[in-house]
Amino acid sequence: MKIGIFDSGIGGLSVLHQAMKELPGEQFIYYADEEHVPYGEKPRAEIEVFVAEIIGFLLAQDVKAIVIACNTATSVATKEFRGRFPVPIVGMEPAVKKALDLYGGSGGRVLAAATKITVTGGKMRHLLECVDKQHLTDLIALPGLVRFAENGDFGSEAVEKYLRAELAKFDLSLYSSFVLGCTHFNFFKEILRKLLPAEVRLVDGNEGTINQLRRRLNCGLGSQGVSREPEYYFSGRKVADGAQLERIRACLQQLEKVFVIE
Ligand code: DGL
Repeated sequence: MKIGIFDSGIGGLSVLHQAMKELPGEQFIYYADEEHVPYGEKPRAEIEVFVAEIIGFLLAQDVKAIVIACNTATSVATKEFRGRFPVPIVGMEPAVKKALDLYGGSGGRVLAAATKITVTGGKMRHLLECVDKQHLTDLIALPGLVRFAENGDFGSEAVEKYLRAELAKFDLSLYSSFVLGCTHFNFFKEILRKLLPAEVRLVDGNEGTINQLRRRLNCGLGSQGVSREPEYYFSGRKVADGAQLERIRACLQQLEKVFVIE
């Protein structure tokens, strides 16, 4: 049985990319809601409807687990997923805890970047109340990066100009880590590495999400072999068009290129 992974768009490919490395033998279905991306600037109620539809679609494909490879979609999900569905559903939240555990020790601050919906949501407030008692985290919404990523632009002058202007609002010497709290932001590790001081580590939530998937599936994981080419769907339609498959391949190539950057 397959594992379903979905996002509003191409961002969740970063989770798929890492999952294929870490869970060899598993087969994947990747669903991008290309008709409705970006989620980060839409009303919460609208996103909830999209998420319910996608979960229904993936369940109909007989998946054994679903990964919501989208911090924004996870942040609007009002009810807990545990127990409501016949298969495990694993969500994603900005990896602030990981950043604090790894790099917060000396009082270094965390700059957590996400979409507007994620940074202003109750789930983020709750997360910070639980893991950041010393109030070391600052939040930044970077909706522009979602649009650049969807256009396949991972590092042009326009991207650099946008990021320079946004990062200039913070005293970067205070930070020890930068959290990639939106899966679309993983494509920009190279340019972020260039613009952030060397001491600021990049932290994403992909590893934690895959570990959580592993735990939830327990012994239901395929043990060996190589993953076949995943099946791709754009808003419910199977991707069969050469240009679209090429676009996905280019994204996976970029993710491979930046994979080790932190
Ligand atoms: N990739 C998504 C996330 O992790 C959201 C991007 C968007 O659709 O705004 O939050």
